Amino acid sequence: MEGQRTYAIIGGTGMEDLFPQAPMETVSTAYGEAVLYLPQGKNYYFLPRHGKEHHLPPHRINYRANIAALKKMGVVAAFGLCAVGSLREELRPGTFALISDFLDFTKSRPTTFFDGEGGQVRHLDVSEVYSEAMNASFERHWGHPLPRAVYVATEGPRFETASENRFYASIGGDLVGMTNVPEAPLALEAGIRYSCLAHIINYGTGIHQKVTIEKSQDLPRIVPTLDGVFAQKMEPMEAPFL
Ligand code: HPA
Repeated sequence: MEGQRTYAIIGGTGMEDLFPQAPMETVSTAYGEAVLYLPQGKNYYFLPRHGKEHHLPPHRINYRANIAALKKMGVVAAFGLCAVGSLREELRPGTFALISDFLDFTKSRPTTFFDGEGGQVRHLDVSEVYSEAMNASFERHWGHPLPRAVYVATEGPRFETASENRFYASIGGDLVGMTNVPEAPLALEAGIRYSCLAHIINYGTGIHQKVTIEKSQDLPRIVPTLDGVFAQKMEPMEAPFL
């Protein structure tokens, strides 16, 4: 298996140290450096987006370097893991959902590899940012279906106000988080198939009286499930530009 890494897991808050023994490798890209981990006996890289010690806040993560590094290493599919707040009573803390689409309320981040340099203007087709085929594969290996949810990307690092969350829910948002934009659209631009498992750890501000954190007991099942997903061969894809 060594030397055959064509997939990646991108870990988020509370899921940064899934492979404590894995050696690391620093990869240089046109956008800066990214640190990847190489779990033994696996066919994927592990990239903790906040750093292994959780030292990078969401707005300081070098998303372009991360995705460019995965691309450079030959990754064709990546599964993101992220911690989120819930805007819906029925999406309870301590459970999981798969992201189906996003609403972008970030403010200060480079969100594209195509910002006009070198005369390249490209418009991304975002009708399927999150691979439904990988979502379905995840559910098969997980053992039961998971809800699909619309992710609202906020700038952070503060949580949202109650008024912001009322607004986000009213326009179709189900979950709030701070990292999936631009990670998901950059993966699509790079032609890397992408899905994201959302670990719901709290109700968003204003949804319940007090914001408290609750983690799932099923966190240890994520890696074996992704081992199953990545046991199936996935082909490289063309980035969908209009
Ligand atoms: N808001 C934004 N990001 C989050 C939250 C939240 O409530 N919970 C975990 N990440």
